[in-house]
Order: sequence, then C-alpha cells, then structure tokens
Amino acid sequence: MDAGEERSLSRDYYLTLAAWCALIAGSFSWYYWQENKGVADTVAKEARAILDRDNAYRHWLVEQGGVYVRPTEKLPGDPYLAHPQRDVVTKDGLRLTLLNPAFVLREVQLRQADPKRGRSRVVSLTPLNPDNAADAWESRELDHLAGGFDRFEIVQTAEGEELRALRPFFASPPCLSCHAAFRDNQLAGAITTRVPLAPYRETSRKALGAVALGHGVIWIAGVAGIGLSHRRRRQHAADQRAWTRSVESMNAELEQRVAMRTEELTRALRELESFSYSVSHDLRAPLRALNGYARLLDESLGGRLDDEQRNMLERIARNAEKMGQLIDDILEYARAGREPLKRSAVDLDALAREIAREQAEHYPAARIEIAPLPPVQGDAVMLRQVFANLVANALKFSARREQPLVEVGGHVENGFVHCFVRDNGAGFDMAYADKLFNLFQRLHREAEFPGTGVGLAIVKRIVERHGGSIRVEAAPDAGATFRFSLPR
Ligand code: HEC
Repeated sequence: MDAGEERSLSRDYYLTLAAWCALIAGSFSWYYWQENKGVADTVAKEARAILDRDNAYRHWLVEQGGVYVRPTEKLPGDPYLAHPQRDVVTKDGLRLTLLNPAFVLREVQLRQADPKRGRSRVVSLTPLNPDNAADAWESRELDHLAGGFDRFEIVQTAEGEELRALRPFFASPPCLSCHAAFRDNQLAGAITTRVPLAPYRETSRKALGAVALGHGVIWIAGVAGIGLSHRRRRQHAADQRAWTRSVESMNAELEQRVAMRTEELTRALRELESFSYSVSHDLRAPLRALNGYARLLDESLGGRLDDEQRNMLERIARNAEKMGQLIDDILEYARAGREPLKRSAVDLDALAREIAREQAEHYPAARIEIAPLPPVQGDAVMLRQVFANLVANALKFSARREQPLVEVGGHVENGFVHCFVRDNGAGFDMAYADKLFNLFQRLHREAEFPGTGVGLAIVKRIVERHGGSIRVEAAPDAGATFRFSLPR
C-alpha cells in the first residue's frame, strides 16, 4: 500500500470513530439533561400540589374566622390569639376556645408531614408567633415578591438537594379582626414548602443507568463495526494492489513477448528485403545482356529478318527494358525503407519548383501552379522523390485533358507541414483508395497509363518514415488530390 492511501484510510477510520463517539456522547448528554429536567419538573409539580392543598385549606379556615374547639389540658387555648371571643361558653355550659387559621393548618400539616413528600408551613416577615418567622430564603423571596406569583428554587442543604417553594398571600378584611396591624391587600405572608429531591434523583439515576448501559452496548457495537469495516477496506485495498501488480506483471510479460516477436519479425523482414534486393540487383546484369544481345542481333542480321522476326526481337528488347524498369523501381522502394534518414532543413518550395520545371518539359500542354511551400526538417533526397513521384503521377493522369492542371501547395498547422498535389485528371473510385499505396497496385490498365505501381508505395514509405501520413481524395474522371503531412 502506498503511504498516501494508507494515511487516507486510517484518517477516515479515526474520523469515523471520533464521529461515532461524539454521537454517542451527545445522545447520552441529551438523555441526561432530559432526565434532570424531568426531576425538576416532577418536584415542582409535587410542590405546587402541596401549596394548592394547603392554600385551599387555609382559605376555608380564614373564611370561618378560625375554628372553635373544646379546650383540653394539652391545648387550653390559642396562646397567640388576642380576640374578645377567644373563650366562650354555650347556653348549655359547653366551653369552647377559638383556634386561629394558621394554628389549625399547622396542626394538620404536622400530622401530614412526610419528610419525603415535603414539609410546609405558614410564614411572615412580621409574625405574631415568632416560630412563624420567615427564614433567610423565605425572607429573600418575600422581599422580592412583586406580582405575588409562586416561587420555586432548588437549593443545597445539609440534608441534600431540595426544592423550596413559596406562595404569597395577602391581607383581606376578615384577617383584620385578629391582625390589627395588617392593612387591606398588604402582603401578609406565605405558605412555603420544601421537597427533597433525593427520592426522585434515585429513580432518575436508575433510568440513567439503563440508558448508559444501552448507550455503552450500542457504542461498543458501533466501534466494532467501524473496526471491521476498516479492516475490510484495508483488505480490499490490499487485494486491489495485488491484482494491479499481477496485471502489471502480465502486461510486462506480454510486452516483452511482443518486443521479442517484433524483433524476430523485423529481422526476418530485413533478411527478406536484403535477399530481394540482391536478387533484383543481380537480375539487372543478365537483363542488360538480354537487351544488348537482342539489339546486336537486330543490327547484325539487319535486312535478313522478315517483319515477324523483327517484331519478335523488338518485343524481347522492350520486355527486358520494362523488367529493368520494374527492378529499378523495386530497388528504389527497398532503398526508401533501408537508407537511414539524413535530416536537414529542406526548402520544399525550391524543391517543388525545380521538379515542376524538369517534368514540364515532357508535358508542354500542362500548367503547373505552385503556391508557396513552407520549409521542413527531413531527408532532402527522399522528399525530392516524394514530390517527383506525385507530380509525375499528376501529370501522367491529367495528360489527356485539354487543359491539364497540376496544383501544389502547403501550410503549417499544429506543428505539421501539410502539403497537397492536385490534378484534374482521370481520378478513380474512392472504394479503391486503400489499395492505391500498395506495392504493384494499379487502378488503370497499363496500356492506358503506363507504370509499375511502385511510385506511390515509395511515397507512402518515405512520408511514414518521416513520421507523417498520406491520404488521397478522388472521384472517377474528376481528378485526385494527394494530401500528406510531415512533422516540422
Ligand atoms: C381568628 C384570628 C385570626 C384571623 C381571622 C386571622 N389570623 Fe392570622 N394568625 C392569627 C394568630 C393568632 C396567629 C399566630 C398563631 C400561631 O402561629 O399559632 C396568626 C398567624 C398568621 C400568620 C403567620 C405569621 C404570624 O403572624 O405568626 C400569617 C401570615 C397570618 N396569620 C395571616 C393572616 C391573614 C392574611 C388572615 C386573613 C386572610 C389571617 N391571618 C386571619 C390569628 C388570625
């Protein structure tokens, strides 16, 4: 595995892991927060219920202006109540004593008080009964009371967390009979209660424990999944690498084999070429002899031959000549492929004009137009052959026109010199265009347009050896245009 890939894989791994941990931590925090909020809400609800209950009771007691009970030894009379009818005797001689609302309420509260469910009392900043004095928290809340709403606060005490709640109440005319100091609507005091949070916390802790366990299990499963998938990805990457390596080695092997075969083929081709070259070369001498002796025979026998015999001798000589031409062309073709390229700057324009001048002599009727040609890097001798063959071709195939026209031109584009040689001659069917550049390939009968069918093969060979390409556009009886390109 290359280092970059390895690094990116493990970076992905750690990022995913971190994201997973953050997700689990976030989820748990949310539960935790919800749970705590739940506890506070529940406790507040509880406290409000207690305040409601006590307030309702106190209301009723105040409405009654207190409650008359029979005095007992334990409770001979209300010690803090200064009231003209505190102690009364009925017509039947029953003795009764008046209990103030705060007293009765307290008695009830004392009997109800379950410290776990909250303790409540009635307090004031200016109490008749000093026991009813507001403590520090109550005093502060009473001081701050503006609209007279319920106040709630969770505070820390020596016994632990508890919710403190307070509901203010106000003086009204019935109060004044006992609380001479009150003015109507004045803030009189408050019912307060305190609810310890411990039992609720206990329940919530249990719930949170279950949630934590669940989160732990999910977290571990996630971590395991991420780890497994990371391993699988590494494995996959390793497999891919092995596969790539094997493909590469197969490719290399294949390439080597191709190179070997190519070399073998090239060697065979070279041997074949040098064989045909020497055969062709060696054929020239006997051909020359054949030709020579035919002419000699013709001369020495002179008048003693009849027409038929002379005709036969002539045919021998002509065929030998033709064969010689063919051999020359083949040798030329072979040379175009064998000779090393001698590259130099070639002035194509001058070269084309010189060729046109030379060849125009044989075709006095033809017009040759040469547009300026750009210079190119290449083998001057070979490029000369290219233009010579193409121009000769063009002249040959347009010779029968009333106004034979051969055009030559070129321009530079994309680092290549593009040239064309166009004629208005016999043309040919494009269906045969592929064959045109093959050795000995002819599209016209020999009697019509003489030639060996080697010239264009030579042209193609030279252009391709220069790293260029050649193609042709033509139509029957509408001329042909040869276009070739050479790298500059
Ligand atoms: C029958 C007489 C009586 C009436 C009516 C009465 N109270 Fe009281 N109140 C008392 C007495 C006596 C105490 C102190 C008793 C105790 O703590 O045992 C007291 C206690 C209180 C306290 C607690 C603080 C303190 O002073 O000890 C508040 C607050 C209070 N009364 C407000 C009111 C209001 C408000 C009303 C009218 C809605 C009212 N009372 C009506 C007699 C009365």
